[in-house]
Amino acid sequence: MSERPIGIFDSGIGGTSIWKEINKLLPLENTIYLADSANAPYGEKSPNEILRLSVKNTEFLLQEKCKLIVVACNTATTNAIKFLRDTYTNVLFIGIEPAIKPAVLQSNSKNIGVLATKGTLSSSLFHNTAKNHGEGIRIIEKVGKGLVPLIEAGRATSEEVKIILTNILKPMLKENIDYLVLGCTHYPYLMPVLKELLPNHINIIDSGEAVARQTKVILEKEGLMNVSNNKKTYQFYTNKETKILKLFLNDAEGNLKVNYLKF
Ligand code: DGL
Repeated sequence: MSERPIGIFDSGIGGTSIWKEINKLLPLENTIYLADSANAPYGEKSPNEILRLSVKNTEFLLQEKCKLIVVACNTATTNAIKFLRDTYTNVLFIGIEPAIKPAVLQSNSKNIGVLATKGTLSSSLFHNTAKNHGEGIRIIEKVGKGLVPLIEAGRATSEEVKIILTNILKPMLKENIDYLVLGCTHYPYLMPVLKELLPNHINIIDSGEAVARQTKVILEKEGLMNVSNNKKTYQFYTNKETKILKLFLNDAEGNLKVNYLKF
């Protein structure tokens, strides 16, 4: 039972940033990662379409007998996790949402920036979180339009990305933010450019580590930790180029298997 894999999905390669955190904390867990890159970006799609794709990804991971599913996508979490939890009641889901709360608690300037997809920023789940935690704080929300396709194309540090980010960050800098919340799992791959564009005093935070910690807590609580000594396997599936997925995994170690799969 405990040998069954943790399933992880995202609209594409972004969730590998979450897989890395999970694998760092839980290296003894088998994992299956699903990158729906052929359908990325989810962020520009309708809530119904995001839901349909999230269901499709979940069903694949359930077929693979995953013991827990991590929705490693803010857009899918904010639009679909309630439905997934209500529908697939025999598996546990862990989602990811922009880390507004820690930014609000630590901000001195009382101005924070949130960079996320249109799908996340327009969801009611995000609105409620912002309302519940954002009292006395000015939250400057910006859609990272155009960023996900460039990251998916392996151009996360390109000149085009720099231009888009410069324009997005301008109003945030004007408002004197001291925290920038990365509300999309693709965005940690923008870190080199963000560090170049932002002054040192601005803290950049994402939810990757918190999701990994939460995954561990739930596995322990449910008695689902892998205790076997068998060789661990980290399976990756993409419905686009394996070359790109491998590029984002080149710093990962262990028994990684990257496969193309039409789905
Ligand atoms: N990585 C996803 C997220 O965290 C979605 C990006 C996209 O496909 O638009 O929101």
